[in-house]
Amino acid sequence: MKFFVDTADIAEIRDLAATGLVDGVTTNPSLVAKTGRNFLDVVAEICSVVEGPVSAEVTAMDHETMVAEGRKLAAIAPNVAVKVPLTIDGLKTCKVLSGAGTLVNVTLCFSSAQALLAAKAGASFISPFVGRLDDIAQDGMDLIREIREIYDNYPHLKTEILVASVRHPRHVVDSARIGADVVTLPPDVLRKLALHPLTDKGLDTFMADWKKTGQTILG
Ligand code: G3P
Repeated sequence: MKFFVDTADIAEIRDLAATGLVDGVTTNPSLVAKTGRNFLDVVAEICSVVEGPVSAEVTAMDHETMVAEGRKLAAIAPNVAVKVPLTIDGLKTCKVLSGAGTLVNVTLCFSSAQALLAAKAGASFISPFVGRLDDIAQDGMDLIREIREIYDNYPHLKTEILVASVRHPRHVVDSARIGADVVTLPPDVLRKLALHPLTDKGLDTFMADWKKTGQTILG
């Protein structure tokens, strides 16, 4: 399973990329707004740090302007994945851009019917938002299961399931059990995945006992 980080904060991206665990980055207009920086500069900088796909979202609502924006974003670096919304205009844009060899991430997916359309439009990634479904008392993971089942029925569809709106480590573990291809993680969720109280407790004991020996490994 691939791990993307869901942030436009370059310092966070550099820090997490150093772990070797980061396979890509996703951004959205809200995350870019938080940085207070120029969007195109931010995307270029992220692409210089991370080799894998970097999602950058169009902001137009109509197909023609979306295509123009998508081409401009794709020209920033070969690893840009143009993010388009799951609307008819977004799907038309997906078809055009993916047909030209550009990576496309179709976002704001909340149903398996939408995911099927994105795959037929040639999306590289479909982004179902699990946390926002949980927020309205639906089970986000049911959607991931349904999409996995549908895509597995049609192996010629190459769209990867990119689980988005991830809020906690359980979403990550459940996505892995279902066989989602990618999860995009807020930085704090990625860090939480490494935590376990028994790890901390065990380490405290080991270090206390080691201190008693009076030794150092490096001399
Ligand atoms: O990748 C989409 C994600 O950024 C949305 O997350 O927490 O705003 O629902 P959230």
